[in-house]
Amino acid sequence: MEPVLGLIGAGRLASALVAGWVRADPACAARIIATDRVDGVAEAVAAAFGIGVRATPAAVAAEADLVLILVKPQDVPTAAAEVATTLRTGAAVASAAAGVELATIRAALHADTPLARFMPNIPVAVGGGVSAVCGDAAAVARLTPWLEAVGTAVAIAEPMFDAATAISGSGPGMLAFVVEAFAESARAVGFVPADADRLAVATFAGTGLYLAETGESATALRERVTSPGGTTAAGIAALERAGVREALTAAAIAARDRGTELRSAS
Ligand SMILES: NC(=O)c1ccc[n+]([C@@H]2O[C@H](COP(=O)([O-])OP(=O)(O)OC[C@H]3O[C@@H](n4cnc5c(N)ncnc54)[C@H](OP(=O)(O)O)[C@@H]3O)[C@@H](O)[C@H]2O)c1
Repeated sequence: MEPVLGLIGAGRLASALVAGWVRADPACAARIIATDRVDGVAEAVAAAFGIGVRATPAAVAAEADLVLILVKPQDVPTAAAEVATTLRTGAAVASAAAGVELATIRAALHADTPLARFMPNIPVAVGGGVSAVCGDAAAVARLTPWLEAVGTAVAIAEPMFDAATAISGSGPGMLAFVVEAFAESARAVGFVPADADRLAVATFAGTGLYLAETGESATALRERVTSPGGTTAAGIAALERAGVREALTAAAIAARDRGTELRSAS
């Protein structure tokens, strides 16, 4: 029997993950089952991608080798407790909920259940995700191939989760802000909006792809394409004068600290 992946919650993150998995391997839909407490939500993901639907978290856990808890942070303890009622011996559990610590989830499960935590991001939908992961070795080993099928998985220590949430979790939103501003800059130098957006997005995506595929560092690329006194040098000098480096550092610190604040308040 092929291992079965069970999803508790079939909302935005679950849909993005399933889209990425099915894009990477259409046959894997037959090994994924999901449940959602809102009628029609899991059914919509099933209709789009061909996964199976079960009525309850307990029904999913009864069949799965790995159960992913993909519900909002405040719903995690209830979902984990429902999973624990039927989870098979040796099956693992992983949660993607921001700010919910392993100890909190473990309290709702049997003590010997292998447990992991991960922080993915929305580009998993197109195979370009980044997921931070930590937890018991057996659970991490079972989870990692699923995460690597839709991008990159990076093992980190649990105390670094607020920082990972700031960089890779909130990163797509913050970088979309930068691309938005870059597209506005293209309008400012005379492009019509449609051309400005295409130029900005394609330049951003191409630069990321180039760095990822060649392994060249961002510093090396910047130095190589910046001739003294040239156009790139003029642009970068303006970025430095405007304090873009400092602004991005401040953004990462603010996002991390907000994560810590939300976790402490819950
Ligand atoms: N979206 C992202 O980009 C992203 C990235 C990284 C991590 N995360 C984390 O992933 C988790 C899910 O986020 P999301 O954006 O996908 O949330 P979402 O769209 O609200 O999806 C969660 C779904 O699970 C349902 N649900 C809650 N408790 C349940 C239970 N016990 N059994 C069955 N279904 C249940 C919810 O129903 P109700 O509507 O009734 O609550 C909702 O339909 C969050 O903890 C978030 O921190 C999200």
